[in-house]
Amino acid sequence: MTATLEAPPLETRGLHVSFGRAAVLRDVNLVVPARTAVGLVGESGSGKSTLGKTVVGINKPRAGQVLVHGEDVFAVGRRRRAAMRRQVQYIPQDPFSSLSPRRTVGQTLAEALDPLRARPADHEEAIVGALDQVRLDPGAMAKYPHQFSGGQRQRIAIARALIVGPQLVIADEITSALDVSVQAEILKLLRTLEETIEASMLFISHNLAVVQALCEHVVVMYQGVIVEQGRVDDVYRNPQHDYTRRLLASVPGSKGFRLD
Ligand SMILES: Nc1ncnc2c1ncn2[C@@H]1O[C@H](COP(=O)(O)OP(=O)(O)OP(=O)(O)O)[C@@H](O)[C@H]1O
Ligand SMILES: [Mg+2]
Repeated sequence: MTATLEAPPLETRGLHVSFGRAAVLRDVNLVVPARTAVGLVGESGSGKSTLGKTVVGINKPRAGQVLVHGEDVFAVGRRRRAAMRRQVQYIPQDPFSSLSPRRTVGQTLAEALDPLRARPADHEEAIVGALDQVRLDPGAMAKYPHQFSGGQRQRIAIARALIVGPQLVIADEITSALDVSVQAEILKLLRTLEETIEASMLFISHNLAVVQALCEHVVVMYQGVIVEQGRVDDVYRNPQHDYTRRLLASVPGSKGFRLD
């Protein structure tokens, strides 16, 4: 440990989450280092979304800590917590229900940037900049979500996350509701963004090959427990846990995936 080593944008310690009597996350210790893309994989129901939602405050943990840059979000006051949480943005899977149908794209982005003064005209430069990052033209500002395709809506959701200048973006299966060709476009966009923005990414996915193409690290969850984490190439080449081995064995032609 050197004094210059900065605290990671996200760390969870001993996180437990239950719904009623069912324990969904058990003793989850996750680290997302600065400027790093971390893939989060595991079968359906293993707790991936629950983990992402707990980090951003949608779910409440029964025990444990969520640290943003080393600061415990539950140990600070409400205003500080809200400011810390803005540094972590969650993009949900479904681009059809995640955008308010009654707001223009400009209003949605203005509200993300500044909830108290959500007037697009006051933030036009930032909004146009965020739209440009996701390859949408400024005309999108005045339109409503129903005027866009699923892929375009997911771009808007990405722009809404980026406009606040987050330290970490949690992308929860953000391409799984899209057609295959549109998925590839969004994944390419994400890879470009990885190179141009400073933020880390927690990329939740079922697709191990996509995780390998986009992420440096991978975290494997099984029944609410992290069973393995490390550099993607190391974990894929030399899985330590039996579940990881089974997961890798279940992917047909997993070595063949390319983004370009
Ligand atoms: N709000 C909730 N209330 C009750 N149970 C829930 C709630 N959210 C999730 N669960 C349960 O918690 C478990 C983990 O769900 P979660 O959505 O985190 O899994 P996941 O890994 O994201 O799965 P998928 O790959 O299908 O998205 C499941 O058994 C689910 O039914
Ligand atoms: Mg999920």
